[in-house]
Amino acid sequence: MSELRIGLVGTGGIGRTHIERINNTLQGGKVVACADPVGAFGLSVAEKYGIKGFENPIDMINDPEIDAVMCTTADPYHEEYVLASIAAGKYVFCEKPLAPKADACKRIVEAEMKAGKKLVQVGFMRRYDEGYKQLKAAVDSGKYGEALLLHCAHRNPSVPADWDNSMAVENSMVHEIDVLRWLLGEDYATAEVRYGKSTNNGPKDLHDPQIMILTTKSGVRIDVESFVNNKNDYDIKCEIVCDGAVLNMPKPNYISVNANATTGQAMYTDCFQRFADAYNAEIQTWINASKAGYVDGPTAWDGYCCQVAAAAASKARETQTIVPVEYDEMPDFYKK
Ligand SMILES: NC(=O)c1ccc[n+]([C@@H]2O[C@H](COP(=O)([O-])OP(=O)(O)OC[C@H]3O[C@@H](n4cnc5c(N)ncnc54)[C@H](O)[C@@H]3O)[C@@H](O)[C@H]2O)c1
Repeated sequence: MSELRIGLVGTGGIGRTHIERINNTLQGGKVVACADPVGAFGLSVAEKYGIKGFENPIDMINDPEIDAVMCTTADPYHEEYVLASIAAGKYVFCEKPLAPKADACKRIVEAEMKAGKKLVQVGFMRRYDEGYKQLKAAVDSGKYGEALLLHCAHRNPSVPADWDNSMAVENSMVHEIDVLRWLLGEDYATAEVRYGKSTNNGPKDLHDPQIMILTTKSGVRIDVESFVNNKNDYDIKCEIVCDGAVLNMPKPNYISVNANATTGQAMYTDCFQRFADAYNAEIQTWINASKAGYVDGPTAWDGYCCQVAAAAASKARETQTIVPVEYDEMPDFYKK
C-alpha cells in the first residue's frame, strides 16, 4: 500500500486539526474522505478541504476506497463508528475516550476479540510526549528506585460554558488516568476526588479546582489537581517522588525571554500548543502501524481500563468516599 486512504468521521475541532496534520505535515497517509453525524456539516468540511464527503458515516466506513478510519466525533458516537470499523475489518483510530461508559468500551473489546485481530487505537496522545516518555524511561531504568508518590496538575485558562462538575475527571483528568497507568505499568486500586475552595472565575455551582487521588495496586499514591478556570495558562505538571530521586517534567520551552527585570517563558493556552509534537507522533505512528498491519499504541483494553477508573473516580466525587477500581481480568488477547 503506497498511501493509507483514511476516512474521518467527526469533522469538529480536533477532527479538522487531524485532517490538516495528516494532509499537510505527516507522511504515508491522506484523509481522502470525511463525514459527520451531522451530515450537512460533514459535507461542508469535505468541500472546504476538497475531499470526498459522505452524508452517512457508515457508508464511508464501508467504502472499499477507504483503508482505515479516524473517529473524532463527540464521545457518544464513538462506539457506533468504532464497531462499524471493526465489522469492516479496518484499522480505526478513536479519539479519547473510547466510549463514555466502561460497558460500551467492553462491547468494543469483545467485538475486536471476535474479529480475531487488534484494530483499535485510542487517542491518548500524552504517551507520545517527549516529557512523559523520558519520565517512563527513567522509572523503567530502575536507576532512581521505585516510584512512591506522584504530584500532577492539569490546569486550563478557561473551559466552555457547558462544563460541569463531572468533566474535571471525565474530560480532563482521563488523560492522567491513562498516561500514569502506562507510565507506572500497573492498574489502579482506589480512586477519590476532593474539592478545593472554589474559584470565583467559573460558574457559582462549579467545584473548581478538584483533586483526584489514585492509588495503584502496588500502593503508589497519585494526586492530580484539575483547575479548569485558572485564567492564565494550560499547565501540565508531573513530578515523581522515587525512593532515590525526584523526577520532574518541566514546561517544554525552547527559549526564555529576559525583559522588564524578569526572566520569563511563554505560557501555553491549550493542549494543541502544548502537545503539538505528541499529536503528530501519535498519528504518524498510527499511520505507519496500520500500513504494516498492527496496532502500536493505546488499545481498546486500555480504553476500557481508563473508563473503569474514571467511573470509580466519578462515583468517588459524587459520594465523597474512596471507591475501589475493579476491572475485569485482562483477556490473553491483549497480553501479547
Ligand atoms: N486527545 C485530545 O487531547 C482531545 C482534544 C480535544 C478533543 N478530543 C476528543 O475528540 C472528540 C471530538 O472533540 P472536538 O473538540 O472536536 O468536538 P467538537 O465539539 O468540535 O465537535 C464534535 C461534534 O460537534 C458537531 N459540530 C461541531 N461543530 C459544528 C458545526 N459548526 N456545525 C454543526 N455541527 C458541529 C459535529 O457533529 C462534531 O462532530 C471528543 O471525543 C473529544 O473528547 C480529544
